[in-house]
Amino acid sequence: MELKHSAETHSSHASGSSAARFPIPENVFAQTVTEVRHFTDRLFKFRITRPAEFRFRSGEFIMIGLRNAEKPVYRAYSIASPFWDEEIEFYSIKVPGGPLTEHLQKIVPGDTVLMRKKPTGTLVLDALVPGKRLYMLSTGTGVAPFASLIRDPETYDKFEEIVVVQTCRDVAELTYITEMVDQLREDPLIGELVGDRLRLHTTTTREPFARMGRITDLLSSGRFFEQTGLPPIDPEVDRGMICGSMDMLKDTKAVLEAFGLVEGANNAPATFVVERAFVG
Ligand code: A2P
Repeated sequence: MELKHSAETHSSHASGSSAARFPIPENVFAQTVTEVRHFTDRLFKFRITRPAEFRFRSGEFIMIGLRNAEKPVYRAYSIASPFWDEEIEFYSIKVPGGPLTEHLQKIVPGDTVLMRKKPTGTLVLDALVPGKRLYMLSTGTGVAPFASLIRDPETYDKFEEIVVVQTCRDVAELTYITEMVDQLREDPLIGELVGDRLRLHTTTTREPFARMGRITDLLSSGRFFEQTGLPPIDPEVDRGMICGSMDMLKDTKAVLEAFGLVEGANNAPATFVVERAFVG
C-alpha cells in the first residue's frame, strides 16, 4: 500500500522523525545514501553505505525500500556495483506515480534507504556453462546488473570477450554505461584485465544516433554482426545474459533460442540466463 507521505518527509534529514515511528525489521539493513546522480529526467543512480556483513554475487538483485511507512514498498533492484566495492550502487528509473520511485528519486546524501538482507538472482556467472564470449543484452536500466559484472575480475577469468549491449530510447540514456566503460578501461586496478576484451554496443530507438534499432531486431536481422564484425551467435562458444522489461526478456530470449542457446538457472547452468527478478 502506498502511504500519503510528502516527498519532503523522506527526502530530508527530518526522516529521523519517521524513523522513530517505524522500527527497522530484523531482515532489513538501514543504510545511508552517499551519492546521487541524475542522468536524465527519467534515470538516476545512487550509492549507499554497505554493511560489513553484506555479501552478494555480481549480477544479483536485492529488495529496497524507504523508511517512510510501517510497511514500506519494496522493489527488486539489481546491484550495479561489484562485490569488492565498499559501497553499493543502484541505477534506477523514475516511474511517474510509482509507489517507490516517486519518492526514491528525491533522495539526497544523508537519507536512509532500506535494503533487505538476502540478495538473489539468475544473472550470475555460476548459472552459465563455460564459453568464450559473454553477451550482456539490456534495455534501459536493465544494464544495471551488467555494470556489476563488468567490474568483477571473475567475469574476465571465465570469458575471453564480454560484449555489453544496451538499447535505449535516446542518447542521454546511454551515459551511465558509456562513462563506466570508458573509466573502466583506465582503472588502475581492473583496467589492464579489461583491456580490449570488453566491448560496448549501444543503440537508440527514438533519437538519431550512429547505431539505431532494438537489439532484438539488430541480432535477428544480422545487422549487429555486420556493425561489430563479430561472428553470428554460436552455442558452442557464446553465452548470454538478458535484462530489461518483461517484453524485452521474452523477445530477446526467443532470439537467443533461435541461435540455439538454452536457458539456464543456478541449479541447472546452460548457455544463457534471463533476469527473473519480477517473476514468481
Ligand atoms: P522502443 O523505443 O522501440 O520502444 P523503455 O525506456 O520503454 O523501457 O525502453 C527502453 C528501450 O527498450 C527502448 O529503446 C525500447 O525501444 C526498447 N524496447 C522496448 N521493448 C522492447 C522489446 N520487446 N525488445 C527489445 N527492445 C525493446
